[in-house]
Amino acid sequence: MLLRPATPADHDAIAALTTAAFAGVFPDGPGGEAAIIAGVRAEGAVLVELVAETAGRIVGHVLFSRMTCDPPALVAGLGPVAVDPDLQRQGTGAALCRTGLERCRELGVAGVVVLGHPDYYPRFGFSAAAAAPLISPYAGSPAFMAMALKTSGLEGVRRVDYPAAFG
Ligand SMILES: CC(C)(COP(=O)(O)OP(=O)(O)OC[C@H]1O[C@@H](n2cnc3c(N)ncnc32)[C@H](O)[C@@H]1OP(=O)(O)O)[C@@H](O)C(=O)NCCC(=O)NCCS
Repeated sequence: MLLRPATPADHDAIAALTTAAFAGVFPDGPGGEAAIIAGVRAEGAVLVELVAETAGRIVGHVLFSRMTCDPPALVAGLGPVAVDPDLQRQGTGAALCRTGLERCRELGVAGVVVLGHPDYYPRFGFSAAAAAPLISPYAGSPAFMAMALKTSGLEGVRRVDYPAAFG
């Protein structure tokens, strides 16, 4: 399996994959994740976007977008992440997250936040405790987690907001 940066030629496949993956999460209807991804691109807020490809087919995708911070800081928001429903639980999601976090580190990102399952993201180093000092509409939720990528990390960052596409 190849992990590589997403290109515009991948966008349709990423939308289809994301819709299929989240259909199991939101069985009553689309959660709008594909539209969020398109919106983040349109805002120019993509920091890192990777796909997992196997035999020429896109089977996984992860997006890290640029958060708006007060005071200004380079902080990434992880998500959405999606893996082909037939290929889940084989390590693809973890590989995408770990590779994306490494790429963020190379870009000088100070820290990363995520709104996701409290049982999944701690394996990468995320914790609700690290997010606790941050002002956010999601503050206080156990699903709102953060991790520092630098020694000083998120110190001094008071408020973080997702790109407008997240609504
Ligand atoms: C979540 C997702 C990206 C994980 O990718 P994956 O390739 O299936 O996951 P991995 O193989 O890397 O990791 C498997 C582990 O994740 C756990 N896991 C998978 N989905 C999970 C979920 N929704 N909540 C909690 N744990 C989850 C599995 O239990 C497994 O745990 P273990 O290693 O302790 O056995 C994928 O399942 C998916 O696309 N889900 C639907 C969309 C979604 O929920 N995205 C995340 C939104 S925050």
